Amino acid sequence: TKVYVPRDAAARSVGADEVAERIAAVGADVEIVRNGSRGMLWLEPLVEVETPEGRVGYGPVAPEDVDGLVAAGLLDGAVRDIGAYLGLVEELPWMKRQQRLTFARVGVIDPLSATDHTSYGGNEGLRQALSITPAEVVEAVVDSGLRGRGGAGFPTGIKWRTVLGAPSELKFVCCNADEGDSGTFADRMLIEGDPFTLIEGMTIAAYAVGASEGYVYLRSEYPDAVAMLRAAIEIARSEGWLGEDILGSGLSFDLHVRVGAGAYICGEETSMLESLEGKRGMVRAKPPIPALEGLFGRPTVVNNVLSLATVPTILAQGAAAYASYGTGRSLGTSVFQLGGNVARGGIVETAFGITLGELVNDFGGGTSSGRPVRAVQVGGPLGAYLPVEQFELPMDYEAFAAAGAMVGHGGIVVFDETVDMAAMARFAFEFCAAESCGKCTPCRVGAVRGVETIDRITSGVDRDKNLVLLDDLCDLMTDGSLCAMGGLTPMPVRSAVRHFGKDFHA
Ligand code: NAI
Ligand code: SF4
Repeated sequence: TKVYVPRDAAARSVGADEVAERIAAVGADVEIVRNGSRGMLWLEPLVEVETPEGRVGYGPVAPEDVDGLVAAGLLDGAVRDIGAYLGLVEELPWMKRQQRLTFARVGVIDPLSATDHTSYGGNEGLRQALSITPAEVVEAVVDSGLRGRGGAGFPTGIKWRTVLGAPSELKFVCCNADEGDSGTFADRMLIEGDPFTLIEGMTIAAYAVGASEGYVYLRSEYPDAVAMLRAAIEIARSEGWLGEDILGSGLSFDLHVRVGAGAYICGEETSMLESLEGKRGMVRAKPPIPALEGLFGRPTVVNNVLSLATVPTILAQGAAAYASYGTGRSLGTSVFQLGGNVARGGIVETAFGITLGELVNDFGGGTSSGRPVRAVQVGGPLGAYLPVEQFELPMDYEAFAAAGAMVGHGGIVVFDETVDMAAMARFAFEFCAAESCGKCTPCRVGAVRGVETIDRITSGVDRDKNLVLLDDLCDLMTDGSLCAMGGLTPMPVRSAVRHFGKDFHA
């Protein structure tokens, strides 16, 4: 019997390794596959058993449950009269309502099996890309409407077109896997669950722009992802998917993993490039943009994990197929991440246009505390706090911008009615003060002044005057900061004041 037990870090943190060991100890005829996570984190460790009808799920399974489950017939996939029985995993409403394109193979395959990658459609995008010209690949990505999934939403194909057009003997592709945003974990789960797809996406990018070398900048907080990607790169080299003459096409491209040291600002693309060059992570002024002068001053593609991992699907299925999902200028699917005080946290990949309320209530099931939802923060620590009155807002870059918010990297953190929003606004400044690279004054000094101003407001010292001062400070940081760290810190602050003003009068 084939039994799947995830080795994703989230599953491991709740005992998946012990569950796998106990099942293996049963011995007879059990083949254990350590897959990625399906993204239903409240069900981890989620054990799946292959049956003629499909994969049957049991979860959450605690290590001490294993012996009883096996005795009851777990390995036949036929035990139904127990709480952990879920039925066919693909048929679960949470899975069925999603459109998994970027995450199509995550949780399904053995992440390090070259055979699985190929038999589940891997490298079809790369083969397709290699059969057309680099410029045609770039135009396919433009036509797909894919926008940067790291948060800024800049059209990926246009960025590639800039790099393709930049004359240079040496160009680079850099993948930003620093994923520092609170409440985001999609990059990690993709790398741990389907690393070959990221490698494939980077190889397509290299072919499209004429790059010969690639770097993945991975955060040190993700040791499992680091190990997984390094192992996958070794396998990809031995399969001829990296190195010289990739798939017999004459293309040469190789990849390296670099591990960060825990600075949030190294997720900002120019700081990341400084760090890759071995320097302290400090923001560079733009222009020049990295597309023209990036790593070691050479034209460089810098893309987020999800942007790059989506490219193989676009090439394999066609730009029009991808662009048929979504709404307005937000085309395709996005990988949303539900976290914080939420009953059912995890990964929801759907077409853009789904509402915030559908994600939080229908998928997330409200709060885990059982109290009413009061606020959600969308797009990481620099994203806006939104009240339930805004739950009709569609997940769409423009709709969010019009509401003074941002979709960002797609993280949604849920808070119940006990949250103190003045404290959250204060935290935004504290976070900025701690993580600022210090290069520009509005951010380095402004963040500290922000904490002080909020303290005066909440303690009732010249409250009205200080609220005006806070507004001024937010204007200054928005307009005067060199990068998004200082420039976006006012977003959570202002949204907290606007939607939850009474918390500032405590
Ligand atoms: P940006 O708007 O300055 O740039 C977006 C991208 O487009 C960059 O790669 C830039 O180099 C490129 N670009 C701009 N003009 C171009 C042109 N003419 N040709 C080619 N490329 C061009 O935004 P930035 O500062 O890179 O990112 C800010 C965003 O980062 C925020 O909106 C936030 O959502 C997100 N963020 C994500 C985090 C995460 O953990 N994923 C953490 C913090 C922020
Ligand atoms: Fe550095 Fe902050 Fe200025 Fe960005 S805004 S360059 S993090 S000081």
